[in-house]
Amino acid sequence: MSGLRPSGRAIYFFGALGGLLFGYDTGVISGALLFIPNDFKLSPFLQGAIVAGLLLGAMIGAACAGPLSDRVGRRRLIITAAIVFTGGAILAAVAPSVWVLVAARFIIGLAVGSAALVVPLYLAEIAPAEIRGAIVSLNQIMITGGILLAFIVNAILASSGNWRLMLGLAAVPSMVLLAGMLVMPETPRFLVHAGEEQTAHEVLEQLPGEDAPEERIKEIHEVEQEEQKESGLRDLLAAKWVRPALLVATGLAVFQQFVGINTIIYFAPTTLTNVGFAKTSAIYANLIIGAINVLMTIVAIKIIDRVGRKPLLFAGVAGMVTSLLVLGISLSVLATPHHPGDPAAIITLVCLATFIASFAATWGPVVWVMIPEVLPLSVRGTAMGVAVFGNWAANFLVSQTFPPLLSAVGPGPVFLGYAALGIVAAVFVHRYVTETKGRSLEEIEADLQRTTGVRRGRGGPGARRPAVSG
Ligand code: BGC
Repeated sequence: MSGLRPSGRAIYFFGALGGLLFGYDTGVISGALLFIPNDFKLSPFLQGAIVAGLLLGAMIGAACAGPLSDRVGRRRLIITAAIVFTGGAILAAVAPSVWVLVAARFIIGLAVGSAALVVPLYLAEIAPAEIRGAIVSLNQIMITGGILLAFIVNAILASSGNWRLMLGLAAVPSMVLLAGMLVMPETPRFLVHAGEEQTAHEVLEQLPGEDAPEERIKEIHEVEQEEQKESGLRDLLAAKWVRPALLVATGLAVFQQFVGINTIIYFAPTTLTNVGFAKTSAIYANLIIGAINVLMTIVAIKIIDRVGRKPLLFAGVAGMVTSLLVLGISLSVLATPHHPGDPAAIITLVCLATFIASFAATWGPVVWVMIPEVLPLSVRGTAMGVAVFGNWAANFLVSQTFPPLLSAVGPGPVFLGYAALGIVAAVFVHRYVTETKGRSLEEIEADLQRTTGVRRGRGGPGARRPAVSG
């Protein structure tokens, strides 16, 4: 650990800051795309490549970050991501050709994917159980804050059309992240895993709300001893005892995208202009959507450790599916609107807002909280790689198919399709997800070990360590 002793607040703030870059870099492109054609000739293919470049990079970044975080540690990976973020932002800002810009977006994507994995992982492993939901949700506050910041920057710079500055400004928070993480500690869980118990003890003592460092270290040792050592991805996928946790983490990650969140985050201005809003009003309406996204995440932070994760997931589906049904049905049956005062235009704006509010207070933060919670320590990084890769792959699928689907079948049926997927998501939660609120990561893991027969105990008298194939 570094000589400086940062406060608990500083640890949580810098631990979460990577989320801001995730949000800014994904949110900024919709505005920048309006002005890039002033400098480069953009075919629809190249336009798609600039957007997809980040998503593809994020998939690869997430897949690699998993095993890397288990090897080099969570903190070093955040530092690496901050360096890549900075380099990518500067390259995008000075790109001499459109292909360099696509490459820069891919490089930024590598950092976004890594941050999407390692930020919640770092926070979950460093936070005390009672407030873990709120602390890990800081990641989502940063993501939504980053998206809103990008929307604001886009609106301010729209008159000058300075897309290079829009993209380059991301270098500022990434340098702050880099400087901050250099003095932040590694997580106690990773330190124990790496045999650095003394340092783990010191970090635990520093954390507000962590009152029993000795006990925590003992617990971490206990669950580690029961774990079977899976080394690579192949072992992990074949390991029966990890499978239930991996299914929950990956399912939540994928359904978070299948409900269609990013058709709104990425395309709301387009949807609004399609229903009669002028471009400038659409950009302002988009700011409102961005602000609701942040505010409702704050609501989640306030209640997640009291209400629990599962009730929030159900409530979120209810709100999102209702919004999507009303939106889908009205766009299917009402006359095509040409003016913001037309009924279908008003309904569209209201439904987008209620959808975002429902997502932001529930599935947005809860999914990133639960992914590291349910996965066992020795494979947590690698297994998160699978889940977070799934999240970006599903994001890619939804956002790349949305525009062609819109022109093929129209907006009504498309939104009804996401409503149907939302119902499948609720069934998934009901069937597979168990509550994690208030329990330490070690208790959650011990439960998993019991129910899968790896550890004797509540799993029943016959519970035995199963042979792990592969
Ligand atoms: C999702 C992103 C989404 C954002 C919106 C995150 O939890 O993973 O895909 O753009 O929320 O706020």
